[in-house]
Amino acid sequence: MTNVVTDQPGARSVLITGGNRGIGLAIAKSFLANGDKVAVTYRSETELPEGILGVQADVTDAASIDAAFKEVEAAHGPVEVLVPNAGITKDTLLMRMTEDDFTSVLDANLTGAFRVIQRATKGMMKLRKGRIVMISSVSGIYGAPGQVNYSASKAGMIGIARSITRELGARGITANVIMPGVVLTDMFNEVSDDVKKKYMEDIPAARFAEPSEIANVVRWLASDEASYISGAVIPVDGGASMGH
Ligand SMILES: NC(=O)c1ccc[n+]([C@@H]2O[C@H](COP(=O)([O-])OP(=O)(O)OC[C@H]3O[C@@H](n4cnc5c(N)ncnc54)[C@H](OP(=O)(O)O)[C@@H]3O)[C@@H](O)[C@H]2O)c1
Repeated sequence: MTNVVTDQPGARSVLITGGNRGIGLAIAKSFLANGDKVAVTYRSETELPEGILGVQADVTDAASIDAAFKEVEAAHGPVEVLVPNAGITKDTLLMRMTEDDFTSVLDANLTGAFRVIQRATKGMMKLRKGRIVMISSVSGIYGAPGQVNYSASKAGMIGIARSITRELGARGITANVIMPGVVLTDMFNEVSDDVKKKYMEDIPAARFAEPSEIANVVRWLASDEASYISGAVIPVDGGASMGH
């Protein structure tokens, strides 16, 4: 995988899980343009833009996460900005949802975030600084039919961010949650046309989001300008979840 370490002063070691496509890749490009040292996890071999370090990891497997962190630390130094972004859906109505449908989504989306955060905070505590920006979903606060598993996994991220804020806030570490609405990626392509139409009716902005519109907010939350924001839940959804 391509690895170009920038020499820019102040360049931070940034790691994004599931950064080989979709929202994660947009986030990686945004940090790269900012002059940071950017690494992403991927599961199967993938083409990455020049300058982004790819490390193989499955967020359901703690050993692969540890190996990926060691690679990133060797190349870029301890991770200072972590974006738990990897996620899956297994949508089906409650009555048809098996326990495995539920636990497998929780394991990837929520426990996966816990695994990488726990691994990253070791280094952040030594650095006495760090930024964690979790990619949740408006489904976590708004709910969605067929997404009992997914919504639960995304709502759980709020509890993680707020508890980390209370545990580690005094050590210069912030933890925030971004709740994207509908974003034009592969994940959204899996949704049926009927459901897409229904989603659109709920969006005051009357359009879906580009991945870069999520990435810009992530990059800003990890910047010095956002140094006093922690435990926040920030919808980026064209107004869809207002008041929730
Ligand atoms: N698209 C939307 O409308 C939308 C809305 C709200 C929130 N989100 C959230 O935004 C995040 C990114 O979504 P996206 O739309 O960019 O999805 P996507 O295009 O389907 O990409 C998902 C990413 O997660 C990775 N991933 C999935 N399971 C993994 C695992 N066990 N270990 C490591 N990586 C794993 C995938 O890796 P592989 O390439 O190896 O599969 C891929 O890089 C997700 O957490 C999603 O829930 C998306």
